[in-house]
Amino acid sequence: MMMLEVENATKMFGGFVAVNKVNLTVAEGETHAIIGPNGAGKTTLFNVVSGLITPEEGSVTFRGKKLNKMRPHDIVNVGMARSFQRVNIFPRKTVFENVQVALLVHAKLHFNPFRQAAKLYHDEGMELLALVNLEDEADRRAGELAYGRQKQLELAVALAANPKLLLLDEPTAGMSISETKASIALINEIVEKRNLTLLFTEHDMNVVFEIADRISVLHHGEIIATGLPDEVRDNEEVKRIYLGKE
Ligand SMILES: Nc1ncnc2c1ncn2[C@@H]1O[C@H](COP(=O)(O)OP(=O)(O)OP(=O)(O)O)[C@@H](O)[C@H]1O
Ligand SMILES: [Mg+2]
Repeated sequence: MMMLEVENATKMFGGFVAVNKVNLTVAEGETHAIIGPNGAGKTTLFNVVSGLITPEEGSVTFRGKKLNKMRPHDIVNVGMARSFQRVNIFPRKTVFENVQVALLVHAKLHFNPFRQAAKLYHDEGMELLALVNLEDEADRRAGELAYGRQKQLELAVALAANPKLLLLDEPTAGMSISETKASIALINEIVEKRNLTLLFTEHDMNVVFEIADRISVLHHGEIIATGLPDEVRDNEEVKRIYLGKE
């Protein structure tokens, strides 16, 4: 079964076509990378898939269900979670509170979790922090964490929704080489442990070729190649417009 099917998706900003008639399928259990130069449309495509923006044309089908006009929050509830290219956490809340609020939102409890229920979801929250190796940082303010650790926290926040499909937009952006290695190892481990399907964008080709089962290449909003890593690496058009520049 296909986890995700994007059909003929087009997104325009004014007269500019940022995502152009994109077709993309991601099978259950697959790790799929979207690569392409800066401005190729990767983040815009993620925004379309996760419901943050509505495409002019085309459709997104997730686990057999069309997502057209569903809100991002509802899409999270049917099993898709994402991270953002820029860090997106509550910096003044503690590490634990960041995860706790995500658990509460997912459970749809609408009251102030920080005042009334400090212990709520304690075990679940600590389990998520342990999963991303942050249990020792639970009581620190999230904004005080090193950058790589903030990205780990974001991952825990995304996992709080118990997703089937995880979308990661440049999970290693801004990281040092050693942080990148550790982060990719962690993502891989979590994908295995939780049986996740992963769709990610990434500029670091070492990372892409190391972990992707399949790769799609975006260029000026269009998918110009999709295939196994070796197929994409050997594709002449990909070499010319993208990999050749590396
Ligand atoms: N809200 C917006 N309004 C107008 N243009 C936009 C908007 N968002 C993105 N664009 C444009 O659409 C194109 C695709 O941008 P997008 O952020 O999707 O690229 P990207 O592949 O994620 O790039 P990067 O590798 O730098 O993250 C760019 O030319 C960008 O300037
Ligand atoms: Mg981007």
